[in-house]
Amino acid sequence: MCGIVGYVGNRNSQNILIEGLKKLEYRGYDSAGVAVYTSEGLQVKKSKGRLANLESKLGETPLNGTIGIGHTRWATHGKPSDVNSHPHTDNSLKFSVVHNGIIENYMVLKEELAAQGHVFVSETDTEVISHLIASLYEGDIVKAVQKAVSRMKGAYALGVLTEHEPDKLVAVRLSSPLIIGVGEGENFIGSDIPAILEYTRNVYILNDGEMAVLTRDGVELMTIEGNFISRELFHVDWDIVTAEKAGYDHFMLKEIHEQPKAYRDTMGSRLDPSGKKVVLNEVGMTPQQIKAIRHVHIVACGTAYHAGLVGKSVIEKLARIPVETDVASEYRYRAPIITPETLVIVVSQSGETADTLAALREAKRCGARVLAITNVVGSSVAREADDVITTWAGPEIAVASTKAYTSQLIAFYLLGLYLAQTLGSQDDAYIAEVIAELKELPEKVERILAQSEAIKNVAEQIATHDNLFFIGRGLDYAVALEGSLKLKEISYIHSEAYAAGELKHGTLALIEEGIPVIALATQEDLFEKTVSNIKEVTARGAHVFGIHSEGHYELAKAVDEVFAIPATLPLLTPALSVVPLQLLSYYASLARGNDVDKPRNLAKSVTVE
Ligand code: F6R
Repeated sequence: MCGIVGYVGNRNSQNILIEGLKKLEYRGYDSAGVAVYTSEGLQVKKSKGRLANLESKLGETPLNGTIGIGHTRWATHGKPSDVNSHPHTDNSLKFSVVHNGIIENYMVLKEELAAQGHVFVSETDTEVISHLIASLYEGDIVKAVQKAVSRMKGAYALGVLTEHEPDKLVAVRLSSPLIIGVGEGENFIGSDIPAILEYTRNVYILNDGEMAVLTRDGVELMTIEGNFISRELFHVDWDIVTAEKAGYDHFMLKEIHEQPKAYRDTMGSRLDPSGKKVVLNEVGMTPQQIKAIRHVHIVACGTAYHAGLVGKSVIEKLARIPVETDVASEYRYRAPIITPETLVIVVSQSGETADTLAALREAKRCGARVLAITNVVGSSVAREADDVITTWAGPEIAVASTKAYTSQLIAFYLLGLYLAQTLGSQDDAYIAEVIAELKELPEKVERILAQSEAIKNVAEQIATHDNLFFIGRGLDYAVALEGSLKLKEISYIHSEAYAAGELKHGTLALIEEGIPVIALATQEDLFEKTVSNIKEVTARGAHVFGIHSEGHYELAKAVDEVFAIPATLPLLTPALSVVPLQLLSYYASLARGNDVDKPRNLAKSVTVE
């Protein structure tokens, strides 16, 4: 996720900006840049890659000045490159902007500004903001920014600097975090507290729809409509590591809690305001090409493979096209039958997994069209695929994938609906119903997260065991596989996920007195059958923790402990039922004293075969 730093004071701003950006590196980024007001006017330096690249450019020709803005970019609109890096300027080079978030109506604004003669050099949505502010400027930067934001739709945190008023730094927040650091004769902006913690512990936290005007001598807070606000300063008493985790004990817990936002961002402008259809502009297949698809292969590794198992059910149910899901390391060596009528979907959070990339290349070699679902714009997978659906989960730092997995599920729901509406395989009313239910998922995840304490109690019990089982049928089985993987990787407890109906064909022999079994029973049409399978294990002494959808409270009679997830369409339950399993693994790992964010033997990005 992008990082913003801004400074106005009496010190050399370049150094403060770079040091601040270093403190935001943990958020993930692919390029960086700074703009400083110098004796020669506003000057910008930016560079693709690590901050060291930018530092070496600044080492050759430093920018001397006491007011500036800096940014680390995590690509959204446009690949990582020098030109797409922030800060962005207008054509006069007198206005400079750094931005976190997404401007949803940037194409409309861009066309309007281009018609007025503005020339754009980057592929970003941010560049539009600098041009818009420049076009609205009439001698007052604060008013120009206010007018500009009234035209912008989306989510943003902004830092704005103009050569016309070189002692002012303007900051705005709408749905993207931004804080103001207050010092002695110097003031700061930061997208996160670590960026400024070295210089001051006194901050104002901007709320949505608020802005700040910073000079050397003070900070004025106001709404974006221009009404002044008075606010108490907040004194930060955490250390830098705690600040990076935004108060959570671990990145994994932070990322689990970021899921409602990741769902909203991934759906974002892809849901038509009518609520009746999905808009996937990034999928370049024509309706004829979609109609020509005879089979779909979903290929991925680990957690992304588990998302692909859900994706199989979603596409088969919605689009009525046969789907196979395969692990990437097997796929390419089993001579899969790939034809030009095969759509191959590769799923990869990092977009750099060697096995997935090799499968992608094999699919392309055989003439298939490849669609990627990835979380990293400009990654190898994103660059090599024909179409890309980006999941807007933001960078995932913890090795155990949580918000990336659930965002992949959202991407599959969107894709399934898109295929269905193009193929006419579902009626409009059903598509509208699924869309309406999708929109409710973020709030339902919040309700699950509010009950974390109940899951923690169960986790502390299972942490004392060395073996356990996850069981479920249909989509519950796909989620059971993911729950089991999560538990293994961070708690080091051995677990197996089984299709509940398959237990009696062998695995039942392992069920003995007291063994924990996590049973998912959220699928309406399979509920009774799952309860029968649960009875097979309780009869042999298993201690069963059941997960059901609200309404099916009778499960309590068949198991030892229950947890209810909010009701939704059966097809959408994986996006809810996995959340208690993520929490279960987290708390079990914690109870065992493990390094939750960095489990043994594992790496975040697996770039070897
Ligand atoms: C588990 C996990 C891994 C990854 C797998 C694929 O929590 O994160 O199983 O899902 O290594 O990684 P990506 O999605 O980056 O291709």
